[in-house]
Amino acid sequence: MTKLRSVKGMNDILPEEMPRWHRLERELTRVFALHGYAEVRTPVLEKTALFTHSIGEATDIVNKEMYTFVDKGEESLTLRPEGTASCARAYLEHSAGERQPVNKWFYVGPMYRRERPARGRYRQFYQAGVECYGDPGPYVDAEMIDMSVSLLAALGITEVRVLLNSLGGKETRARYREALKAFFEPHREALSAESQTRLELNPLRILDSKSLTDQEICQGAPPILDFLGPEDVEHFDGLRAALDALGTPYEVDPSLVRGLDYYTRTLFEVQTTSDELGAQSALLGGGRYDGMTEELGGKATPSVGFAMGLERLLLMMPVTEEPTTLDAFMITAGSELRSQTLVLAKELRAAGLRVDADLRGGSVKSQLRRASKTGARFALLLGEGEVARGVVQLKDLVAHEQRDLPLAEVARELAALVAAG
Ligand code: HAM
Repeated sequence: MTKLRSVKGMNDILPEEMPRWHRLERELTRVFALHGYAEVRTPVLEKTALFTHSIGEATDIVNKEMYTFVDKGEESLTLRPEGTASCARAYLEHSAGERQPVNKWFYVGPMYRRERPARGRYRQFYQAGVECYGDPGPYVDAEMIDMSVSLLAALGITEVRVLLNSLGGKETRARYREALKAFFEPHREALSAESQTRLELNPLRILDSKSLTDQEICQGAPPILDFLGPEDVEHFDGLRAALDALGTPYEVDPSLVRGLDYYTRTLFEVQTTSDELGAQSALLGGGRYDGMTEELGGKATPSVGFAMGLERLLLMMPVTEEPTTLDAFMITAGSELRSQTLVLAKELRAAGLRVDADLRGGSVKSQLRRASKTGARFALLLGEGEVARGVVQLKDLVAHEQRDLPLAEVARELAALVAAG
């Protein structure tokens, strides 16, 4: 049988990579909690209609990137390509809005899109996101954008820029669509094949085409901001003033449209300005989607959120030395003492110490080599001589010192040493 490998674009995260993941997850949980967001977990599988209704039939995600299957001939299910639709479904299903006027939720988990894999772009990738229900903004929008930048800074990611735009309400978008269609029509032949298709389906997306010719044509396109109604303008002005008050720099980018159809008014993306991620420069993106809950058959609820790609953040986070995961590694000199090693290890673990041992036995030298490899600061050696004297030999693998510790005091002494660092 040919060797089985993981599915293309879906990666294993090995134990040695986990400390960085944990650091990232700890930090984002901390920052989200500081802003009043509570965690929610929704299933990775949802009914396909949830995504087609919310993300939009004309988007790349729904059109070509979803992993969809019919479950035992009964109903069409889809591996979630993002978290916003699932959260909105859960918000409605559990009538969360009836318990609290404003709900601030966050989530972390794998998402699935059948994209062409590249650095920072995968078919299974992890997102952390926040969604706030019940507040029409614009202050909460500003708080959210500011939070995202603070979080990136706390992770050591400072080479960033915030792009901001407003799409207005549903009618504005519809009017803008028509205006764009009329504008691009005379240029149809010159547009890239992809943009020609988008001209019919979703002309807004032509604005973020990667083709240089398309970009040149887009220079002359009417800006969405000219189409906003007075209330949209007031909202956008309020958002900008609040960001100014918070001291969060941003650039208004009228060509920012993003690939999901549900946005209304506020739209933002935080990109890295370094070349590290190539075309995948978007670290996070989000916006307001006031129409979604109604679209899904529930009560109209103002909603705003963003999500960030954890792999992309990890590629951007500075490399730091991760703390070791073990406090001590135990070495048994003489295979017949392995039960005693087990008993002592159990005692130490009961005292909260992280302890491992090489229970295969083997030479002291080979066990010492393993101890060093684990990164543990201390090794504890138990041999005939030690047992006879009622002690354990404590080796400081960093200072290269050793001394005997009475068996009854190992847990206390080791805990004190570990606490002292
Ligand atoms: P999105 O822009 O599609 O928005 O994705 C958000 C972030 O997820 C991107 O900025 C990127 O960092 C990461 N990402 C997206 N696709 C991939 C991929 N194939 N591989 C690796 N990372 C990826 C949303 O998903 C919206 N649900 C955001 C939102 C929340 N809007 C309102 N609330």
